[in-house]
Amino acid sequence: MHGSTRIRLIEPGDAAPIAVHRARDVEAFRWWEPTQPAEFFTPEGQAERIDKLLAGHRAGTVRPGVVLADDQVIGQVTVGGILPQLHLRRGSVGYWIASVAQNQGHAGRAVGLVLRVMTDELGLHRAEVSTHLENLPSQGVLRRNGFSAYGVAHSSIFLDEHWRDGLLWERILGD
Ligand SMILES: CC(C)(COP(=O)(O)OP(=O)(O)OC[C@H]1O[C@@H](n2cnc3c(N)ncnc32)[C@H](O)[C@@H]1OP(=O)(O)O)[C@@H](O)C(=O)NCCC(=O)NCCS
Repeated sequence: MHGSTRIRLIEPGDAAPIAVHRARDVEAFRWWEPTQPAEFFTPEGQAERIDKLLAGHRAGTVRPGVVLADDQVIGQVTVGGILPQLHLRRGSVGYWIASVAQNQGHAGRAVGLVLRVMTDELGLHRAEVSTHLENLPSQGVLRRNGFSAYGVAHSSIFLDEHWRDGLLWERILGD
């Protein structure tokens, strides 16, 4: 899983590797990702989810991507909540990297690549991310990509059986 990092638009064929990663990483991700129904961890459930993401892509509200290392799917990087109006032009970035491929710089590079997509392809002006207050690996990824923390959204996401605060991050694109 070492080597270069690429991102591309998600495809129906990505369902199987994503299901394998997410089933393996349930415990590792429990603190950082919302609880998911059983079908989330099957290729069929992921295929349905990919259909919805691609529908969002066609509608212009989502840019759903996968992260590749040596042409293998190792994670996802998605721009959601896209507001393309000229006076807003912003989107929220979400990402995960499979435990077997972590700590090799893939998330840092994938976020850098998606910022270029947001600027050059989507014409956006502002990127936003929310992290768990204690998600230091994710915060390191954001700092390395020029994000700054600008506030706390109290009790904003239900993770591991509790409402958690979110640390809010921003990056003005083109800076
Ligand atoms: C957060 C997450 C995406 C980070 O993914 P990752 O690919 O391990 O991230 P990176 O490798 O880019 O950075 C992690 C660390 O590896 C180090 N690193 C970077 N490049 C490296 C390289 N070439 N070799 C070794 N280590 C490297 C970085 O210094 C970083 O350490 P730091 O946090 O002390 O700065 C991953 O842990 C994950 O998916 N977690 C669960 C889901 C999640 O939290 N998603 C984010 C929600 S906001």
